[in-house]
Amino acid sequence: MKRAKITIVGAGNVGATTAHWCAAGELGDIFLLDIPRTEDMPKGKALDLMQASPIMGFDCNIVGTTDYADTQDSDVVVITAGIPRKPGMSRDDLLGTNAKIVTSVVEQIKTSSPNAIIIVVSNPLDAMVQQALKVSGFPPQRVLGQAGVLDTARYRTFLAMELGVSVEDISALLMGGHGDTMVPMPSCTSVGGIPVTQLLPRKRLDEIVERTRKGGAEIVGLLKTGSAYYAPAAACAQMVEAIVRDKKRLIPCAAHCDKEYGVGGYYVGVPVILGSGGVERIVELELTASEQADFDNSVAAVKELVKVMDGLMAS
Ligand code: LAC
Repeated sequence: MKRAKITIVGAGNVGATTAHWCAAGELGDIFLLDIPRTEDMPKGKALDLMQASPIMGFDCNIVGTTDYADTQDSDVVVITAGIPRKPGMSRDDLLGTNAKIVTSVVEQIKTSSPNAIIIVVSNPLDAMVQQALKVSGFPPQRVLGQAGVLDTARYRTFLAMELGVSVEDISALLMGGHGDTMVPMPSCTSVGGIPVTQLLPRKRLDEIVERTRKGGAEIVGLLKTGSAYYAPAAACAQMVEAIVRDKKRLIPCAAHCDKEYGVGGYYVGVPVILGSGGVERIVELELTASEQADFDNSVAAVKELVKVMDGLMAS
C-alpha cells in the first residue's frame, strides 16, 4: 500500500512538532515546508528529525523544503503558517496578517495538491479555515480546522488533575469556536463512564471550563515568546492519523456547518466522523437550552470575525 504523503506548512514550533508526532506514529512520508526566506531551516529540522529515527525506531522519510513542487500530490496538508500571539494579544489580533499568509499558502496548495485534505491550525482558527475553504474551492469535507481536539485535551487534562485520575479515563466534548466562547458539554463528559456531574460540583466544573477557555492564553503568558505547540501539534497528528488510516474517529473539529446546527455556512467546532474522506459526517446532538444559547453566542462571534476578515481582505 502506498504511504501517505503529509505536508506541513510552517516549520516553526507547531509545524516541526507536528512533524515529530506524525513521524513517531509512522503516519506517512512527511514534507516540512517553510517560506524561501527561511533558507535551509526546514531542511535542517527535517534532517535532524530523520536522524532520530534509528534511535526511536520509526521509519519514514522526512523532507524539509521551501518549494511547493516537492509537496506535489500530498494526501494531507496541515497549515500552521502564521504569526503566533504574544502575551496580552487575543487570537483575533492576528486576523489581518494571518489571513494574508493563509491565502497565499492555500493558493499554492490548490495547484500542487488538488486532492488533498487541508487541516488549518493558524489563528484565529475559525476565520482562517473559512478563508482556506474560499481560496481553495475544495469541497468543505476536505477543509477543516484543528481546535476541538486541543481544547478537549486541555479540558481532559484539567479534569484528570482535579480528580486525581488518569487522563485515559476522561472522555469529553467541547463545541463552538476556538476562543473564549467555546461551549462545554458536561452532558457529554464522563470519567470511566461516570457522568462528571456526579463527581464534581457544577461550580468547580465551570471553573475548569473557564481555565480551558483561556488555556491557550495561559501557555502564552508562561512562554512569553509564542504560543503552545506540544498539545496543538499532538492534536494535529491525531487528526492526520484519523485521515491516513481511515479511522472514522468521532472527534471535535472545526467543520463547515451549513444546515447542521442551523449555522448557515460557517466553521465551528462540532463532533465529526473523521476518515479518509475528511469530514465524513457532522454529528448533530440535541443541545440543552443553555448549551444552545452558548453555541449560538459562539457562532455569532465566529460570524463577526469572518466579517471583519472579509473587510480587511477587500481593502
Ligand atoms: C492555543 C493556540 C495554538 O490554543 O490556538 O494554544
